[in-house]
Parts: sequence; C-alpha cells; structure tokens
Amino acid sequence: MSKRVRKAVFPAGGLGTRFLPATKVIPKEMLALVDKPIIQYGVEEAVASGIEHIIIVTGRGKGAMEDHFDHSFELDATLERRGKSELLAVSRGVSSLAHISYVRQKEPKGLGHAVLCAKELVGDEPFAVILPDDVIDAEVPCLKQMIDVFNQRGGSVLATQTVEGPGISAYGVLAGSQDASDSRIYNCTGMVEKPRFEDAPSKQAIIGRYVLTPRIFALLEQTTPGAGGEIQLTDGIKALLKEEKVFGYTFEGKRFDAGDKFGMLQAMVEFALKRPEFGDKFRAYLKSLPL
Ligand code: UTP
Repeated sequence: MSKRVRKAVFPAGGLGTRFLPATKVIPKEMLALVDKPIIQYGVEEAVASGIEHIIIVTGRGKGAMEDHFDHSFELDATLERRGKSELLAVSRGVSSLAHISYVRQKEPKGLGHAVLCAKELVGDEPFAVILPDDVIDAEVPCLKQMIDVFNQRGGSVLATQTVEGPGISAYGVLAGSQDASDSRIYNCTGMVEKPRFEDAPSKQAIIGRYVLTPRIFALLEQTTPGAGGEIQLTDGIKALLKEEKVFGYTFEGKRFDAGDKFGMLQAMVEFALKRPEFGDKFRAYLKSLPL
C-alpha cells in the first residue's frame, strides 16, 4: 500500500439545485468563476499539492466536464490558424493539467456514496477528497497543507473553519479538543451533522477538503442511508473515528462556497479584484456604485 497521497476524488455527481435554473443543463462544477469553471480551481489546487491522479465522480448530464479537460481539436486548430498563441496555450493548458479518470454515479445518493464510487480507482491507499464547489484561495494550497499534516500525524485529516453563531448549523461540526502542540490541529473524538446552534459541540465546521485512509471505503459500504436516502460521508468518518485517529485542521486561506449563489458572488468579486489585467478597473467600478 502506498503511504503517499497520490490521488484525489472530486465528487461531482450532485444535482446542484441551489443554483437553479443555471444548473438545469450546465453542471454546477462548470459554472465560471471569472473565466474558469469552478472545478478547474480544485484540479489546479490538487496538482499544486502533488496529486498525480484525479478521479472525477460524474453523473447524468455532466459530460461537459470531460470535454473541458480533454483536447478541443477544432478550437485549438482555429486558434492556431488565427495566430492566437496565448489563447491556444490556455486551451491546451487545461487539457494537459492532470491525469484524470471518470467514474459515474448512477444516482445522486449522497456524498458518501459518490466517494464510494471511486473505490476501485483509488485502491488500497490514502487519498484526498475535494468538493469542487468549495473554492479556496490560499498561498500554500489547502490540500498541500493537509497532506503535510497527514504525513506528520498519520491519520485522516478534515479541513475545518471556525464558524461563529447560528451559521454553524449548515455544517458537520467536530467534537474533541485543540491539539496541545499545534493550534491549527483539532483532535477529533466525534462529529455531528448540521447540529442546532445550541447543540453544536464546537465551532469547528468541516468544509470540502479531506485526506482519508482507504479504510473509509469498507465503512461506507456498511453505512446505512440517512436523511433523504443518502449515504453521508460524515457517517463513514464517524465509524472511522472509532478505529483510527482523525484530525481537524484549520487551514490557512479563505474558502468560498461557490455552489451557493451568494458564495459565488463573494468569490467573483474577490477573485476579480485580484486579477492584474482588470482588478484596478473593477475596484474603481465598485467604488463608483451608489452603495
Ligand atoms: P452539495 O450538496 O453541495 O451538492 O454536495 P449538490 O447536491 O449538487 O447541490 P445542491 O445542494 O442541490 O445545490 C457537495 C458535492 O458533492 C457532490 C456534489 O456534486 C458537490 O460537488 N455530490 C453530492 C455527489 O457527487 N453526489 C451526490 O449524490 C451528492
């Protein structure tokens, strides 16, 4: 069994209902954040974190993702003929980003089920899970930070962020205690999915990045469907906790929930402001608005 984290699973088989009507035909993962589909940010993060093999779990109507990461002969030939070398490099760059495999989730039966669909492609080795609608802006890629913790501590690692107030009820929340030697690490003893504010065991909310040991697959296979008939990843991780160490990790960086309309708007504004070619112009435009 390889001890290195070489593979990353991208569950992208969900329906994206929060973004209707845009996601009626277009996969949520293909919605553009400025000029790049949101899943491409995650793929670039994985590659920058040392991941060698990406596994995208797709579903019905999600073919655009496969086309996006493939060669586009007509487009490339046209750009070449027109002498558009910079755009050609952009188009070719996407198709040579990473080694990507696809596996189909026949029905959207939950995040845990989507991860389980990647079992054969992952095999018996630790792996990462990236939820493509969580876009993270960080100096050191979030997944790289997590793999470093995994390598040091040798247990599964869940990315967390501190959520103050009732907003915590939208997340899986960790129970446990802060590590004595590293304030970013949380020694996890349990977790509660979407607790009431009063019942939340901590302020440590799980977000869309995980490094997991392959034991999770057997545990997910034994997990019975919960609310809405879905197999929850958190139920599998709860079972994992009884057998192995699991850590929360407060990553350095800023996360945007781009699968939600408001989160996407926030990401759009902040990413656009950072773009050298029009950031200043956009800033001036925002300042000119009668807010
Ligand atoms: P979300 O709950 O954010 O995605 O799942 P969703 O179900 O597509 O969106 P809404 O809530 O209806 O708007 C997080 C990630 O897990 C994937 C989604 O594609 C998304 O990237 N997922 C979810 C699956 O791959 N399969 C599922 O059965 C459920």
